[in-house]
Amino acid sequence: MGTVQTEVAIIGAGPAGLLLAHLLAQDGVDSVVVERRSRAYVESRVRAGILESSVVELLDNNGLGARVAEEGQAHRGIYLQWPGQRHHLDFVELVGRGVHLYGQSELQLDLGRARDAGGQVSFYGVSGTTLHDVDTDRPSVTFTDADGALVRLEARAVAGCDGKHGPSRQAIPEASRSVFERLYPFAWLGILATVPPSTDELIYAWHPDGFALHSMRSDSVSRLYLQVPVATDIAAWSDERIWDALSTRLGAGQTGWELKRGPIFDKAVLPFQSFVMTPMRHGRLFIAGDAAHTVPPTGAKGLNLAAADVALLAPALISLIREGDARLADAYSETALRRVWRSTYFSWWMTTTLHTTDDPFTSELQRTVLEMTVASRAHSTALAESYAGLPIGV
Ligand code: APR
Ligand code: PHB
Repeated sequence: MGTVQTEVAIIGAGPAGLLLAHLLAQDGVDSVVVERRSRAYVESRVRAGILESSVVELLDNNGLGARVAEEGQAHRGIYLQWPGQRHHLDFVELVGRGVHLYGQSELQLDLGRARDAGGQVSFYGVSGTTLHDVDTDRPSVTFTDADGALVRLEARAVAGCDGKHGPSRQAIPEASRSVFERLYPFAWLGILATVPPSTDELIYAWHPDGFALHSMRSDSVSRLYLQVPVATDIAAWSDERIWDALSTRLGAGQTGWELKRGPIFDKAVLPFQSFVMTPMRHGRLFIAGDAAHTVPPTGAKGLNLAAADVALLAPALISLIREGDARLADAYSETALRRVWRSTYFSWWMTTTLHTTDDPFTSELQRTVLEMTVASRAHSTALAESYAGLPIGV
């Protein structure tokens, strides 16, 4: 078995793992990234598209802001609508900051390139990732690399950034971890289409047939979603059926507004779940991103939370490894979980407010919440504050 030494072993090359690797490298801390999938696979995954302003600042402050600034779009807010009503919520006016539209798959490319430029080691296409001795100060990770060789990666700390199906979570003894979970009785059917967006900012639409969302990737690519039942067979949704449903839900009572249609080049059903695992640390194992928590996509918080986790974790690991100072590492889980629970609450709130059920009582409450949200500055400010996101570290 070949042995490789590093300071931080990072499991997973998603946004959490690669951003952590980059933040550590900025301070001269060495890491090795271990990823189950090929790099091409990781870089072609379709993901959400909204960055909080504090995440844009974090990228900017760490030399990753150029393409976000050039190719992303600053959005002041969102539209909230229901049949016959469409209201713009201006986050900049309400809370002094907006959001940035930038495909997370683009960020994945930026992070991969930054890693290449730093010349640090990454293993893609590995199998059998196993964590060892995480409750000692010499933890290690073993795996089989893409050429079939067994590798032992020895580190001072392990970062579990391996998403919701990875092995890191399981490396925390069952008796020491707790899981909080909420399943929802629906899913999203998401499409990417070659057509200019029919809106300047995102539209979140409540409709008796189900929720719809109009997002975008660029001036020529639109991203749209439909609420569908959990066990939806994508084959039952022809392109025409999708466009018709989107037009009905997004166009309801919007005089003079029409949804532009174009060729659909990606179509998928996305699962919905709220999930939080606590604590996010066990000994020298630190969990970040989807490995510790999953939010439903309604508030676009998944990547933003992952970025906020690693923004806390990087300085904690640097102090621990460089100075032997464990204070930030000891505080990591509790500090990160405060934001995790706030985003979990917000994503749950957006989801349960906007997705229709067949319960008429729930529908009336939803319409009331939407009306209150646009009519009351206190309510719209609360939405804006959570959607635009808190500063990192709060
Ligand atoms: N060994 C190595 N790598 C693994 C293993 C394993 N056994 N299991 C999973 N991984 C990898 C996955 O293949 C994936 O590339 O870990 C990575 C985890 O990445 P993400 O799932 O993207 O999770 P994260 O980096 O936390 O991203 C957070 O970004 O785009 C959003 O929807 C995404 O909300 C999520 C957020
Ligand atoms: C997206 O652009 O993919 C997107 C935007 C906002 C969301 C979810 C997804 O709430």
